[in-house]
Amino acid sequence: MIPPGKPNHVTLACRCKAGRGRPFPVGPVLVHFPAMNNLSQKRILLGVCGGVAAYKSAELVRRLRADGALVRVVMTAAASEFITARTFQALTGEPVFSGWSDDRTGMDHIELARWADRILIAPATADSLARLAHGRADDLLAAVCLASEAPLMVAPAMNRAMWRHAATRDNVELLRRRGVQICGPADGEQACGEVGPGRMLEPQVLAQSLSDAFSSALLGGLKVVITAGPTREPLDPVRFLSNRSSGKMGYAIARAAREAGASVELVSGPVLLDAPPGVQRIMVESGREMLAAVLERMTDCDLFIATAAVADYRPARPAQQKIKKQAADTSLQLEPVTDILATVAALDHRPFCVGFAAETEQLEQYAQKKRLHKGVELIAANRVGNGRGFESDDNELLLVWEGGTCWLPKESKTRLAHQLIERVASLYAQRSNQPISSEYHAKHSA
Ligand code: PMT
Repeated sequence: MIPPGKPNHVTLACRCKAGRGRPFPVGPVLVHFPAMNNLSQKRILLGVCGGVAAYKSAELVRRLRADGALVRVVMTAAASEFITARTFQALTGEPVFSGWSDDRTGMDHIELARWADRILIAPATADSLARLAHGRADDLLAAVCLASEAPLMVAPAMNRAMWRHAATRDNVELLRRRGVQICGPADGEQACGEVGPGRMLEPQVLAQSLSDAFSSALLGGLKVVITAGPTREPLDPVRFLSNRSSGKMGYAIARAAREAGASVELVSGPVLLDAPPGVQRIMVESGREMLAAVLERMTDCDLFIATAAVADYRPARPAQQKIKKQAADTSLQLEPVTDILATVAALDHRPFCVGFAAETEQLEQYAQKKRLHKGVELIAANRVGNGRGFESDDNELLLVWEGGTCWLPKESKTRLAHQLIERVASLYAQRSNQPISSEYHAKHSA
């Protein structure tokens, strides 16, 4: 980690300079270490109930926004006695829902329930805990909680005697058994002048709990190297061969792997995306540079995921000077680019390897062939072309491994990446200590 107060970009060595029209760093020059938090672009629905601690919810929203989360607020009627909807509207930049009258389509509560990645109720009063425990749906917040499949966290805030009351204890226990995460309360001086348990946890503690809730230990302790984006194969100093990869799929996977507890190094071709939080990014340009950057990182790598759209061919003799327009037709001689994935899979001490297959037809047949040909444990195949796969925000994947397939239907690349990482973690756990498939050896020793 970068110590506090230090810049989060470290320039290691500069082999090439960014040229005109290139808004990103190029060459294996820049290692990017953004501070670790898991909240960037996460959709947090904050429920605010009627209690003195509601004033702290405004600071909580400010922190979540600063950490990159998207926040929407649903207030109960009682909450408006303590803080106004306008405060939250200003802090979130989103409309605030404070009752059924704000459910303009009659389906807004369902839309909110689906939108949320996670729901946090802070402050959660004794009454709101009772309503949640009993599955009530007669106010907007309770209805959203009932309709949502997103994990629910509550930060209780109430008088110490109310917190200790058997009814509240039973409600809290019931919620806990249903998987609701209970955050706090803290002990201390209360608004009513009494001292004891019942204070809402401080905003920074709640923001950290939310961030932690998005990380899992699925890949805890593992080093993962991921390739992403396109490569550029130079024709001359100003032209290159490339493709439409935006890097979105690979970056989403890097982020999901980081959130699953791995230490992640992302070897990226030229893209316009920021490095995911906590991920070490190495920018490269050509397939040759990508291969070198990957191989440098293989000594202690546990898992390699090749998402990059690496060029299969490059100009055999790139011109040293700009190629001049010629009167007659011209032709280009190409030579193959080394297959990075197959090279890694053939190393003596190889990591668990996951490849992608970009196909326009016969998805499963080609995916199976690639898995065997490249000698990898898993292939994630996607259809490409006509707006699919490349550049789009969503995708669908067919996962193919020895003895199994699994279809991941159309979803945002962010969510698909998490599903892929779950499957990879499970296959890794089963197979990391086993030699590569007998199927592969049979084929290649034939
Ligand atoms: O970046 P996005 O816009 O989000 O688009 C995502 C994507 C469509 C690029 C991604 O989902 C994807 O399919 N990536 C793989 C693209 C590709 O090159 O597929 P392929 O079938 O040609 O290659 C098979 C595998 O070999 C891939 O894992 C590829 O990274 C790897 N490969 C290929 C050639 C090469 N020289 N070296 C490699 O490592």
